[in-house]
Amino acid sequence: MARPFLKLLLFSAVPIFCFLRFSHASLSYNFYERTCPQLDSLVNRAMAAIFLDLTAPSALVRLMFHDCQVQGCDASILLDSGGGNVRTEMLSGKNFGIRQRSSIQMMKEAVESECPGQVSCADLIVMAASKSVTVSGGPRIDVPLGRKDSTTANNLLADSHLPPASMSVDDLLNLFSSMGMNMEEAVAMLGSHTLGVGHCINIADRLYEPKGDDYMSSNYGAYLSFMCPTRVPLTNLTALPNDLTPTLFDNQYFRNILAGRAPFTIDSRIATDPRTSAIVAHFAGNQEHFFQAFSSAFLKLSYHGVLTGDSEGEIRRQCNQVN
Ligand code: HEM
Ligand SMILES: *[C@@H]1O[C@H](CO)[C@@H](O)[C@H](O)[C@H]1NC(C)=O
Repeated sequence: MARPFLKLLLFSAVPIFCFLRFSHASLSYNFYERTCPQLDSLVNRAMAAIFLDLTAPSALVRLMFHDCQVQGCDASILLDSGGGNVRTEMLSGKNFGIRQRSSIQMMKEAVESECPGQVSCADLIVMAASKSVTVSGGPRIDVPLGRKDSTTANNLLADSHLPPASMSVDDLLNLFSSMGMNMEEAVAMLGSHTLGVGHCINIADRLYEPKGDDYMSSNYGAYLSFMCPTRVPLTNLTALPNDLTPTLFDNQYFRNILAGRAPFTIDSRIATDPRTSAIVAHFAGNQEHFFQAFSSAFLKLSYHGVLTGDSEGEIRRQCNQVN
């Protein structure tokens, strides 16, 4: 009696399921099932030590963005200079403040000891970022795996592909729509700034060469000027929290930017641009929707430009150099 209903359920549920779970053709949720079944627990154990540093999660989330944004999610950001095709991306000023590269190498060593030559550094970066979001109170995001590592890196690509703090909303929307994201997802991506810190080198322009569309409240402006008193920073050591709760992955960032307390120019612009301000207000009032949009955006970022299969890239033995 229930058969027709069951059939309908099967026919309709299967495609929806596929769409949600397998949205990148060559990556999969069980990629290491046979070659490293204990991967998740190895990674969790290594990360427990890394997370003793409460500032590690923010750095690992930004590390994934800066990896994926340059040549795709291929661990190119971990390579040190060496050989003909590798000039480290860390030479780029856009990578100022990038930390925790060696934590991925620590994870790699833990994984190599039990599953030698199997797991890419590119996958470890994505896993570390996802677990960093969760450990900070954000959503749990299961990521498909199977990325390969690049054999090249170029600091000039980092210069040209990583966005400046002063980017326009147009450029922001274009950047993320090229990864298949809609406007909500693009705004949710910037919600990553719910974690971590910024330095005066990325803030001084807002203070000493102000743009008309970069609103900040007067007391927040006074606070920034107090912390960053000169056009050219006298020290690179001053770190300012990106929102009121820099170790919590929550929607405080959106409430902050609505109140004129945005860390960087682009953050203030999405709070006032007519295309994005309603989305910002919505996320400020509804953390669940922010988490949903962030999770789907995070997956799209994690698919960007991946190397897969037998013919592309390699599994590095050490994350900081090609084999
Ligand atoms: C697309 C436009 C974006 C721009 C212009 C931008 C810019 C910046 C800047 C200037 C900093 C401060 C760096 C410093 O001074 O130390 C920063 C920090 C950070 N960004 Fe972004 N970002 C963008 C998107 C993203 C995305 C997509 C993510 C994550 C998926 C992200 C995650 C972070 C995190 C977590 C920090 C804090 C890092 C730390 O505490 O060390 N950002 N960003
Ligand atoms: C701060 O870092 C930038 C970029 O790496 C560098 O050019 C500058 O000299 C540093 N400033 C100080 C005071 O160390």
